[in-house]
Amino acid sequence: RPGEPPLINGWIPFFGVAFQMKTDPFKKLKEYQKKYGDFFTLYINGKYFTFVLDPFQYPLVLKNHKQFDFFKFSNEIIHKVFTVSYRAQVMEKMKENYKYLQSKLLEKTVYNLMQNLQHVIKKQLLQTKNWEMSQLFKFCKSIMFEATYVTLYGKDPSPNSDEVIPELLEHFDKFDNEFLNFLFPIPTLSLRAAKISREKLIQNFSSEHMYKMLETSEIIRSRRNCLEKFTELPDHEKGAHHLVFLWASVANTIPTTFWTVYYLLQHPEAVAVLREEINHLLQSTGQKKEPDFNVQFTREQLDSLVYLDSIIFEALRMISASANLRVNEEDFTLSTDKGEINLRKGDSIIIYPPMLHFDPEVFEQPEEFKFDRFVKDGKKKTTFFKRGQELPYCLMSFGSGITKCPGRFFAVFEIKQLLILLFMFFDMELIEKEPLQFRKSRMFFGIQCPQSDVSFRYKLRC
Ligand code: HEM
Repeated sequence: RPGEPPLINGWIPFFGVAFQMKTDPFKKLKEYQKKYGDFFTLYINGKYFTFVLDPFQYPLVLKNHKQFDFFKFSNEIIHKVFTVSYRAQVMEKMKENYKYLQSKLLEKTVYNLMQNLQHVIKKQLLQTKNWEMSQLFKFCKSIMFEATYVTLYGKDPSPNSDEVIPELLEHFDKFDNEFLNFLFPIPTLSLRAAKISREKLIQNFSSEHMYKMLETSEIIRSRRNCLEKFTELPDHEKGAHHLVFLWASVANTIPTTFWTVYYLLQHPEAVAVLREEINHLLQSTGQKKEPDFNVQFTREQLDSLVYLDSIIFEALRMISASANLRVNEEDFTLSTDKGEINLRKGDSIIIYPPMLHFDPEVFEQPEEFKFDRFVKDGKKKTTFFKRGQELPYCLMSFGSGITKCPGRFFAVFEIKQLLILLFMFFDMELIEKEPLQFRKSRMFFGIQCPQSDVSFRYKLRC
């Protein structure tokens, strides 16, 4: 219709441009942006997706939640991927528990997290006398998965508890690798194994098992008790809710940790600044780097690490593939500096932050990892500019508006704690230097995993 963004239908009926987008969405979107500008509609799998790529229009889409609905999308996703059916009352009640992921209520969990990280590292790594070889993604994954699982869900009391976590991780991997295929209209062969793993994970979260777990965190106890109050909910559905949360709590943190370490190992100047910041923190908190591996930091102390913050945010800028998806509830006219643009009722509206994160006008040399990009005059830098104007959003890896990730503080504290331990106690070196590619298994849904793993070596720093 007149005044609507250009429509790119592709040439395959129903699928439209789905296959072109699957290969390299970022490159394809850059091409479309060059040809059609900041607003265009793609036809994909029978649906219309309008991309809004002008960052100054983001607030209008993200803050106007009556007009641009988020929940239609997320409900469809959690149903198709996790088998959770939409029940408004349950969803609303479950959200109330997010308070345990914020402010003072998070204090105890952050403390336990550090204890558990230290425990896992001691168990897995402390025997190393000389250089040990490993695969970096596998290494980060096994530490983060175990520490997060034990911190949130608690300890398994069964006699074979040592086998439980590696088994869960194996199922988690099989399930997560197929994340996008659960949403694709044609089932793939590999989906069968992923569905079996999904069932195993859901069974692990049966009510009976959840009540047996020891030292479960406040947020999970509260979610569990809340689900139990809905007596009409089948046990399977309750387990599926716990799987959603498990996925949310590790699926992005693991690759973020991996890429942060990976970039750091290529930038010794960043590692030197990080170690200096850690040493300063140790001194100012009266702690020493002792072989027993026992250090603790408060939320405020972790928050004060501006370089470590910047290092993590810079990695997040480079690796995040999350889109902000909304459904347009009514015909709507956007006023832009290029004129009015009509958006159609029922179409999906997509904001794709990687286009902003790699905009050279906002982030100079965006392909480069600049560890201090988010530091200015020794303080956190939070303002960035385009066309001489301050941007309303500059780093959107955690989403934005009312749907912003409730676990973002937990995530950053966890990654910080692990990086402190690794860089304080270990020397690490990459063995392979070839650049890594991103795996496309999470396109539009979070942090990208590496296409292949990379060898590295580590040894204790005495
Ligand atoms: C680097 C790590 C993480 C990243 C990049 C990340 C990113 C995101 C994003 C982009 C969203 C969707 C927001 C939107 O669409 O507007 C989200 C939602 C969510 N995240 Fe995270 N997240 C991370 C870690 C965590 C952790 C550690 C937890 C829990 C401990 C968590 C819990 C959640 C939950 C529960 C939601 C759904 C919120 C809702 O009900 O709408 N996330 N996250």
